[in-house]
Amino acid sequence: MRYLSGIQPSGVLHIGNYFGAIRQHIRSQDEHDSYYFIADYHALTTVRDAEVLREHVLGVALDYLALGLDPEKTTFFRHSEVPEVQELAWILSTLTPMGLLERCHSYKDKTAKGIAPDHGLFAYPVLMAADILIYDSNKVPVGKDQIQHIEVTRDIAQRINHVYGKGQELLVIPEAQVEESTAVVPGIDGQKMSKSYDNTLEMFASEKKLKKTIGKIVTDSRTPEEPKDPEEIIMYQLYRLFASEQELEAMAERYRAGGYGYGDAKKDLLEKLLDYFAPYRKKREELAGDPGGVYEILSAGAARARETAQATVERVYKAVGLR
Ligand code: ADP
Ligand code: TRP
Repeated sequence: MRYLSGIQPSGVLHIGNYFGAIRQHIRSQDEHDSYYFIADYHALTTVRDAEVLREHVLGVALDYLALGLDPEKTTFFRHSEVPEVQELAWILSTLTPMGLLERCHSYKDKTAKGIAPDHGLFAYPVLMAADILIYDSNKVPVGKDQIQHIEVTRDIAQRINHVYGKGQELLVIPEAQVEESTAVVPGIDGQKMSKSYDNTLEMFASEKKLKKTIGKIVTDSRTPEEPKDPEEIIMYQLYRLFASEQELEAMAERYRAGGYGYGDAKKDLLEKLLDYFAPYRKKREELAGDPGGVYEILSAGAARARETAQATVERVYKAVGLR
């Protein structure tokens, strides 16, 4: 089984990315043939500052390596170091109906917000399909918001198989894999945590910054004395991510009993978050001291990924008549 996923270096990663995606990516490396990449080509649709893009690429690489991604076990690379994916994307484009892309939420949301969509944003699901199909991926671990893009990928793959497969599977049909229990991590305002909403808790921000951000979590005006339903409270929803079952039950009880205020809840959440990421934070600092080593790891991963990518492109070129 081949597992593949990509993550965009479009900002600093947050705990929503971790619990919704990164943790699953790292766990899969012991059981499966895993490919993970930093989707820098995709990030160009939103990041328009070269220095910032480079910073985020390095940041994401450091995050994954610090959080336990083992480049010996996982093929870990930077998207743009496997340019073959663009060759496949073009061929897929010629088989992608406009309607399929027009229905995509990512595109519809941006246009609805009045943002002028460019062709890159519109065509982005096709490049994403190429990312997946070029490695004959079977499973694609992602957060819920990406399911539609996997559907699009399957649709495109079925078309190419139908048109050029001569009864055989030219490209492997992939499946999305979503971790239901942590499907959507809320942000400090209660909406989905997202880099684009300015509501995130960054995994490796300083204690001072995290304290300040947690301080901004939206609450109501109930006094500490009042009993509360824990499920309604953002601090509890976030605490759940870090706590064991017993800890969570004890915490729920505290809310229900009354006498547990929002200030206490914020303090407890901060402590849990810091403890959870402390060992990774240390590792990240070590890795950050040698960025050259990190780039080497990415390039070695890309060299491995390219072998698979080139074989797929060769196969598809032959099937469509370009060779
Ligand atoms: P963002 O919304 O912050 O820009 P991305 O869209 O780059 O995040 O998502 C990267 C990965 O993290 C995807 O697999 C996505 O589904 C997952 N993800 C992002 N935000 C969340 C969240 N709040 N809860 C769960 N998973 C998330
Ligand atoms: N579109 C994904 C996101 O925004 C990132 C991504 C790009 C991806 N290519 C992919 C995810 C291929 C899975 C497979 O989160």
